[in-house]
Amino acid sequence: MAGGGAVSSGNGKAYPGKLTKRVLVTTIVAAMGGLIFGYDLGISGGVTSMDSFLEKFFPSVYRKQKADNSTNQYCKFDSQTLTLFTSSLYVAALLSSLVASWVTWRLGRRRSMLVGGTLFCAGALINGFAQNIAMLIVGRLLLGFGIGFGNQAVPLYLSEMAPYKYRGALNFCFQLSITAGILIANLLNYWFVKIEGGWGWRLSLGGAVVPALIMIVGSWFLPETPNSLIENGKKDEARAELLKIRGVDNVDEEFKDLVAASEASKKVEHPWRNLFQRKYRPHLVMALLIPFFQQITGINVIMFYAPVLFKTIGFGGTASLMSAVITGLVNVVATVVAIYLVDKLGRKFLFIEGGIQMIASQVAVAILIGLKFGTSGNTSNLPEWYAIVVVLFICVYVAGFAWSWGPLGWLVPSEIFPLEIRSAAQSITVSVNMFFTFIIAQLFLMMLCLMKFWLFIFFSFFVVVMTLFVIFLLPETKGIPIEEMAIVWKSHWFWKRFVADGVDMEMAKGGSRVNTI
Ligand code: BGC
Repeated sequence: MAGGGAVSSGNGKAYPGKLTKRVLVTTIVAAMGGLIFGYDLGISGGVTSMDSFLEKFFPSVYRKQKADNSTNQYCKFDSQTLTLFTSSLYVAALLSSLVASWVTWRLGRRRSMLVGGTLFCAGALINGFAQNIAMLIVGRLLLGFGIGFGNQAVPLYLSEMAPYKYRGALNFCFQLSITAGILIANLLNYWFVKIEGGWGWRLSLGGAVVPALIMIVGSWFLPETPNSLIENGKKDEARAELLKIRGVDNVDEEFKDLVAASEASKKVEHPWRNLFQRKYRPHLVMALLIPFFQQITGINVIMFYAPVLFKTIGFGGTASLMSAVITGLVNVVATVVAIYLVDKLGRKFLFIEGGIQMIASQVAVAILIGLKFGTSGNTSNLPEWYAIVVVLFICVYVAGFAWSWGPLGWLVPSEIFPLEIRSAAQSITVSVNMFFTFIIAQLFLMMLCLMKFWLFIFFSFFVVVMTLFVIFLLPETKGIPIEEMAIVWKSHWFWKRFVADGVDMEMAKGGSRVNTI
């Protein structure tokens, strides 16, 4: 992440600090950032399954969908412009997260959040009042730019404001607010679709304005983080702010370390070039593969297209939206379970258990859909009990994701990169995540049409690969202070051949390394 300097924690020191009111308020504003991201993830699926919306903007999809069952069920919704509506947001997010990393660094975290909130607001309004596809896409692009800024600045802001003891929990709370955003979006779609006159989708899309306004107003009043103030040469202000947010009389030690961390991070001239050195090969591989794997689980097929998918297998409009509410609820609850378990059972256990659960449920869904639709996709609607069983397995799958790759896909990268490559590696993780989110969003409906029920087997194949990857190639990072992380690579059967030199050199220098989050 830009700038790199943050609260130092893992050096065995215990900085004094309380969970002050100031910190709690920052958490609420940060939660708005996650909420908007989740809201946008969840809202488009329901909206694109609404008849009035399709009829207005995508009449050919609407006609195909309404046609009798001789139309192949798998291909009912296949339209590249329809998917562009969903996916355009993630291209914009990918591009803007690169710009945002500079803004967050030079102009501060607070300004980045302000920019993010403003873009969100504009995007939501344009979408709510949309008259044509162009307005829809422009609105989505603006929301995407907002997400680039929000996702860059908010987690960083949180980590820097939080007393180090609460940092892990706050990191997961960001994911929790994403899942809450998805659920709220699903619920609103369920209600708004019932509005007479079929204009409920306007409220669904425009609704994102509410958390966006809270974020704008909140970040207007929020203080800048001490780290960012130090980075921009305002040391006195930084110390005063640190005293206020920690709620104690003496913050000397933490302040001194923040200044040292900021100075150390300024010395890193070429984080991008560093990243390609042999000793950072494991980090580079993780920065690329973890976000790729998170997306290739197929989770966003459910998050974006659950209502469309449920309609495809023969649910009515309201039942489809209700089923999306159910999967959204399972997502939130399972994320809470993960927050509770992650520091007890460890990352690998959750990854492996979640992986097995996802594989089993994907295979089950493929069999259930395959048995009824075959590959022709021509069938009358499913009997109710059958459809309920499908939804049940999808819930098992969502729970498996939500207590493994969902939160860990963000947490693990954030704890394994050493300071000197952190900003570069983190941008890679965010960009790769957004890129594959875009690919899945854009290609899913076409893939469903081409691969039929085999699509679920396709995703489960990748979950098998990534579970094996975790078993053999991912070291356990539970309970290991961040500055000790080098040791996990050095003692790993495979990665030690890459990192050994680097670690030895640092040890030889006396082992003095400056570390931040
Ligand atoms: C992923 C999103 C996904 C969400 C579902 C996040 O961790 O990055 O792509 O939609 O989890 O809860």
